[in-house]
Amino acid sequence: MRHPRNLMRLSWKELQSLELREKAAYFNVNGNPYHCLIAQQFDRSMLDNLGRLATCIRRTAKSKSGMRFLGSLLDHKRAMLYFSQPSSRTFLSFYAACQILGLKPAEVRDTRTSSEMKGESPEDTVRTFSSYFDIIIMRTPQQGFAEKMAWVLSNTERPIPIINAGSGKDQHPTQALLDIYTLQRSFERLGGIDGKTVVFVGDLARGRTVRSLSSLLTNYEQVRQVFVAPPPLQVGKDVLAQLAQARVKYELSDNFEEAIRQADAIYMTRIQDEWDQTPGESSRIDTDKFAFKKHHLDAIRPHTVIMHPLPRRTEIETAVDADPRAVYWRQVRNGMWIRVALIASVFGLAEVVRNNYDLNLG
Ligand code: NCD
Repeated sequence: MRHPRNLMRLSWKELQSLELREKAAYFNVNGNPYHCLIAQQFDRSMLDNLGRLATCIRRTAKSKSGMRFLGSLLDHKRAMLYFSQPSSRTFLSFYAACQILGLKPAEVRDTRTSSEMKGESPEDTVRTFSSYFDIIIMRTPQQGFAEKMAWVLSNTERPIPIINAGSGKDQHPTQALLDIYTLQRSFERLGGIDGKTVVFVGDLARGRTVRSLSSLLTNYEQVRQVFVAPPPLQVGKDVLAQLAQARVKYELSDNFEEAIRQADAIYMTRIQDEWDQTPGESSRIDTDKFAFKKHHLDAIRPHTVIMHPLPRRTEIETAVDADPRAVYWRQVRNGMWIRVALIASVFGLAEVVRNNYDLNLG
């Protein structure tokens, strides 16, 4: 595992002035993630490799000897889970991923119990904590804080990798990786993700999972992205500019029923009302006609998958859960495996895992 040395040669201002795609060279080393901060740092071969690695890990983990092997890989390392924004599923997913690799996890979930209360800056707090650990996995309400910490630490004597587990309204790259892994698996016998139509529904303005997944999908050929939302919650101009730059076909719509008929994947999302500027603002928007109800199952195609990053509220009726096309619970399990794969690649273990797999299960 080598730290990307070029990151310390840039000032914070210079790093910020780069286009998102250009930042990849500062977060990856030799085509492998060192930090995992933004969706734009992943290209097609990285996504293919991570998906394959997650599958090797998933199959290896089925036996006790396989679990012992995985659990020995990082039993000499420690991880800090710094989650200053509410989370239980992503937190536990990472926690379980660390455990599978033998990586010892410790957590900070409430910064009110730290010296931040004595006026310490969050940068100093995280830098202090980083001294005890070998990797930091962080979720924060502030956009760009994980990236800031990666840069801060790269200018210290002991840089360590940082994984962004959700940064404000901005990015959630590991959710997007698990979404891609779910799509790879769902379309395995249908020619893969290339050429598919992905329909995003719900709060596309403030949902960070949509921003990150939309970006990862630009790595595939001829994928059409359709954004279906009530006008105030329609996807941001920055996402559309990125699609236009990548010459990706997209459509905006407020006609849910029409859009889901053409979909290969329907990505439902929750109304992110925690970001409301004035209380109750979102509840005044009519979102009912953007909800997936049981009768919609008759309108979608036999291979179409229904996805959701969870937590779900009313945007998918629970009666839909029993349909095999509802894959949101599978996404959760895939999330754990892709996070194991990501951490293993960050620590340069992909080849060891693959060799073990070829020897014993291949
Ligand atoms: C998402 C998030 O935190 O952005 N949840 C998650 O990580 N599983 C989606 C959401 O909160 O709606």
